[in-house]
Amino acid sequence: TSIGVLYGGKSPEHKVSLQTAMAVMNAIDKTKFDVIPIYITTEGQWVKGEKLTGDIQDVKQLQMKPEAGAILPVALNRAPAVAEKNQKMEDAIDVIFPLLHGPNGEDGTVQGLLELLNIPYVGNGVLASAVGMDKVIMKNLFAQAGLRQAKYVSFLKKEWRENEVVTYDKVEKELGYPCFVKPANAGSSVGITKCKKREDLRQAFMNAFQYDRKIIVEEAIVGREVEIGVIGNDSPTCSVVGEIVPKKEFYDYQAKYEDGNTELIIPADITAEEYETIQQMAIAAFKALDLSGLVRADFFLTKDGDVYINEVNTMPGFTPFSMFPLLWKHSGVPYPELIEKLVQLAIE
Ligand code: DAL
Ligand code: MG
Repeated sequence: TSIGVLYGGKSPEHKVSLQTAMAVMNAIDKTKFDVIPIYITTEGQWVKGEKLTGDIQDVKQLQMKPEAGAILPVALNRAPAVAEKNQKMEDAIDVIFPLLHGPNGEDGTVQGLLELLNIPYVGNGVLASAVGMDKVIMKNLFAQAGLRQAKYVSFLKKEWRENEVVTYDKVEKELGYPCFVKPANAGSSVGITKCKKREDLRQAFMNAFQYDRKIIVEEAIVGREVEIGVIGNDSPTCSVVGEIVPKKEFYDYQAKYEDGNTELIIPADITAEEYETIQQMAIAAFKALDLSGLVRADFFLTKDGDVYINEVNTMPGFTPFSMFPLLWKHSGVPYPELIEKLVQLAIE
């Protein structure tokens, strides 16, 4: 079986994708799978990629050069008439692993392209990827499914430009402080600011609006951050739960990928009842968003044992510091086996 590994991408999480792809390429069982790397530049050009090797923590040396030769996604088409004309490399792809994070990759766009090209791919479909990327739509669906979550409000850039005061008043009236300001569509904490007072809001809004025309502001829940992995299609199963212990104000981009200073506790020290609730909520979220393949669901757990869902990630990070592969390792599914399972789920 040959796996086309798609990585990079036109998204602020481009570098995270490089680290994810390198980790996956290293872990793939080479006796079973051929890896065909396909790199998407920050401008969105598709080129023949490289088999990434080296020091995974040194993202700089993972900077890719686009002159490896452009390919058109349409060359990957598996429709018989097109496939015949294709070059050998593209012909051989059985399944694509879209290791892309953020907009233009994790949001249903690439998934839609692959559907049209008749190529099976790992992970969530068009709809699930799209609603899983947009935190406002995702939370609206969670609300409808009756899942406990933090209060939130959303604004368009236009509304904020027209009347800043009204937007800040609304944040104070409905949420209070502290609160988190986030772009609606982004990941890895890109564009997120924690606000403790009204004076923090303008800078936070400006920052988030750099990434999206829509933002979400969420009430901060005081509690532990816990996460669970889910894999499967119509009968999804859950991993153990892991806890994140950030050494700073919150689990931001730096803490996730750069300073290596965050502690991951796997399995988390929680009660059987808490595990049960988290698992049930993760499965309910999986169904509410019509997810498939894989997802990492993120929660807050309060002192009183109340569980709040924060979000799901339809293509969670696979870097060496990422929770998802570690959760499965601790659940008895080592990295190479996890990849194999995900590929099976894509073609079953
Ligand atoms: N968005 C990052 C990659 C994650 O959820 O792990
Ligand atoms: Mg996310």
